[in-house]
Amino acid sequence: MPLSPIMDSTAAPARYTPAKTATAARRPAARTRDRLWGAGVFVICALPLLALAWWTAAGDLGVNPIETIVRYLGDWALRLLVLALALTPLRHLTGSTRWVRHRRMIGLWAFAYGVLHVAAYMVLDVGLHGPTLLDDLTKRPAIMVGMAALLTLAPLAITSTQGMVRRMGGRAWRRLHRLVYLAGILGAAHYVMMVKADITDPMIYIALLTMLLGARVARWLAGRSV
Ligand code: HEM
Repeated sequence: MPLSPIMDSTAAPARYTPAKTATAARRPAARTRDRLWGAGVFVICALPLLALAWWTAAGDLGVNPIETIVRYLGDWALRLLVLALALTPLRHLTGSTRWVRHRRMIGLWAFAYGVLHVAAYMVLDVGLHGPTLLDDLTKRPAIMVGMAALLTLAPLAITSTQGMVRRMGGRAWRRLHRLVYLAGILGAAHYVMMVKADITDPMIYIALLTMLLGARVARWLAGRSV
């Protein structure tokens, strides 16, 4: 997943040429526009959390507030993860790099919702009861798969900074970050295993992930950059 030149501070500085001066003059405007888009994407990703805080304060979480909170946060973790995964195929389809510039932020938000989802389960649902947690994490396959999803996302979140891209080198960094597909598949599998009756919703995620992964594999088979 190559970074766009705007995000990639590791790119070598361009040599001075008169033709490039006009481009350079346009850059601050492009950067400001990018920052505004970034702020917009940040606010949009934070909105579900603000809505949850609002409903919690208003006591408007239905008959089982804990279940509502845990599920809601898990849903948003998976939604944002799938959205982050959709941005590269979207760039291939449209040729526009606009959205892909915010992929890192969306991915980090997916991780944040995942962490909050797990924290809500551990604190609100299980009450931090050690033996129950240990039992769940070692004996309930659905929970184990959820844990695997979170553990797969963690190194991606940790290495998401420009400094880490530089330290690891673009190639190794991109290779590591392909694990995001595994995290998505594990998250969706966890969802399938968690629901007791109607598996329509989790199957929609599985179908989306299959399509997105299929698009990347098709490009790879065609010898194009993925
Ligand atoms: C240690 C890791 C995890 C644990 C212990 C865990 C735990 C749970 C539990 C207990 C539920 C069922 C809630 C209920 O029905 O009351 C659930 C549902 C769910 N989890 Fe996780 N989870 C983990 C990781 C993840 C991750 C990383 C994702 C997303 C990437 C995720 C996405 C979901 C989704 C989508 C649901 C179903 C929500 C719904 O029914 O609408 N979980 N999880």
